Amino acid sequence: MAKKVLGISFGRKNSNCDMMVKCALMECEKEGCETAFIRADDLNITNCNGCISCVIGLMSGRGRGYCVRHDDFDILDECVMQSDGLIIACPTYETSATGRFKTICDRIGPSHDITFRKAAYDEGKAAGKPESELPDARAFNKRSAALISVGGAMTENWVALTVPMMYEFTFPMAIDVIDTVEYYGAMAFENVAGNAPMMERMKKVGQNVVASINAETEEERIAWRGDEEGCCPICHTRLLQVSHDKKSVDCVVCGSHGTLKIVDGLIDVEYTPEELDRSRLRWGGKLEHSTEIKTQAQPSGTIKNLKELKAPYVAYNPGIFPVDESANGNLKK
Ligand SMILES: Cc1cc2nc3c(=O)[nH]c(=O)nc-3n(C[C@H](O)[C@H](O)[C@H](O)COP(=O)(O)O)c2cc1C
Repeated sequence: MAKKVLGISFGRKNSNCDMMVKCALMECEKEGCETAFIRADDLNITNCNGCISCVIGLMSGRGRGYCVRHDDFDILDECVMQSDGLIIACPTYETSATGRFKTICDRIGPSHDITFRKAAYDEGKAAGKPESELPDARAFNKRSAALISVGGAMTENWVALTVPMMYEFTFPMAIDVIDTVEYYGAMAFENVAGNAPMMERMKKVGQNVVASINAETEEERIAWRGDEEGCCPICHTRLLQVSHDKKSVDCVVCGSHGTLKIVDGLIDVEYTPEELDRSRLRWGGKLEHSTEIKTQAQPSGTIKNLKELKAPYVAYNPGIFPVDESANGNLKK
């Protein structure tokens, strides 16, 4: 059966992200894959309202881990579940991914975290529940992805947060990112279709995803195929956060704790194997998080006088500032 590759563009219709994803997908098709394409703005997907019933359902065994609302997220979810590989491109807005991208990541959220899902699946199965009452077992299939960020600015640091943020799409479902591309300076071309080297790189993205999903071994499947090794051996990004005591660093994407070293004048980060296993991109890091939530989140009804404690804040509502008619604002008169 042909392997399936799903392309998702968060960009404008027929603009850079669309072209780049389609170029990579066409390469996948050439190599025998079945492909599908979604432009995120064509889907009607509402924001997560934070009710957490998806994840409470998983933890209690009463739910399958889905949102109480049915909207076009279900279409995206179905396509992801069918896919073996994903190619995702997102524009940079204000140095990071777009609002639509974040909306979709929030909807993926903890309910798609495979450690939550697997526990619910295994416990439900052991209790004799039918498959229809369990989380979608396709969630546990291995998948590989390439992430592409696009920025109009000519300066690379104006796209700095986009690729790191794009891991929010892949890490809950343990989709392995095997290639990333940061395309900045996009406004120097009317459209990326006129940027031959970047379109060549997109063909390579397609080839890399195909090589990964067709790999014979797991080691080969998850092998990093990006241009640079980065600062973290797991996510290969370069985004580090300095600890409060300024003695160590964390990989922002993975959460793994490392030690900064200068070797032959070059910055290097050393991570212990234990810390790498705590990466939220790996089972260990995800399990640590789902366990802390399961064991430490205080159930409702615990604080007996909560209604009373909240009352002054519930009653307090200063409202908005009165309109300043003398200022040059943008409110419709
Ligand atoms: C609201 C907004 C904010 C933007 N902020 C940035 C930015 O911080 N850095 C950057 O490089 N480009 C920025 N851009 C430019 C877009 O990344 C650029 O237009 C990109 O090509 C959009 O992708 P698309 O062509 O696939 O739609 C911004 C564009 C918009 C609309």
